Amino acid sequence: MRKPIIAGNWKLHNTIPEALDLVEALKKGLANQTRVDVIVAPVFTALAAVADATSGTGIAVAAQNCYPEASGAFTGEVSPALLRGVGCKYVIIGHSERRQLFHESDEFINKKIKAVIAGGLAAILCVGETLEQRDSGAMMEILHDQVRKGLAGLTAVDMQQVVIAYEPVWAIGTGKTASADQAEEVHSFLRGTLAGIFDKSTSEQTRIIYGGSVKPDNIDGLMERADIDGALVGGASMKAADFLRLIHFQQPE
Ligand code: 13P
Repeated sequence: MRKPIIAGNWKLHNTIPEALDLVEALKKGLANQTRVDVIVAPVFTALAAVADATSGTGIAVAAQNCYPEASGAFTGEVSPALLRGVGCKYVIIGHSERRQLFHESDEFINKKIKAVIAGGLAAILCVGETLEQRDSGAMMEILHDQVRKGLAGLTAVDMQQVVIAYEPVWAIGTGKTASADQAEEVHSFLRGTLAGIFDKSTSEQTRIIYGGSVKPDNIDGLMERADIDGALVGGASMKAADFLRLIHFQQPE
């Protein structure tokens, strides 16, 4: 019912030539696959080139961030309309690196999500707990809060343009993946949260993807779980062979 998403977040990596090499390798390896929505998120300066190179293929392009205003005196910022203009379909919002390093609040994230939707793009809202928050027992409350505040004011129709990414901070770039059980527990909780905020059918239609040290050797176990609809991948998305293996995840018969 929910089409899987495998998304590569390239973070601050890949020059335009490197990005284009990677995309060429992905195009070759993907042929005409339609089982999965494949997304790559290059740096701003490579978006246009990657969008051109993937146009008409099954690969969609995401930006890693945006600013909620359409235009104005906002030096250094980029609006959703400009991102759409170069061929983006998605914007990653509220990644833990942005929350931690750039002090983004849930309220600011909410403004960005509204701007992304109004701009005709889809938002990938990232939520996740730190290890201290998990150990303290406050994890579910914190995740519930991030979702509720991030999506404040949205309608069930708006949710057709939202994907949730659960990325436990302690699993990002550490090689420590959440086990399939740990991830499924949170995904199922987040789906319940969405049912509470919106309704059951919206919660069943919204894709909730997992991020944090997803690799070829753990993707299959994650994708077997009922509430895990895909992956948001950092490190392993920058090696074509690894990313292709993630896209070609195996499911039991
Ligand atoms: P890693 O896959 O490198 O852990 O990164 C995950 C991530 O932050 C994706 O947004």
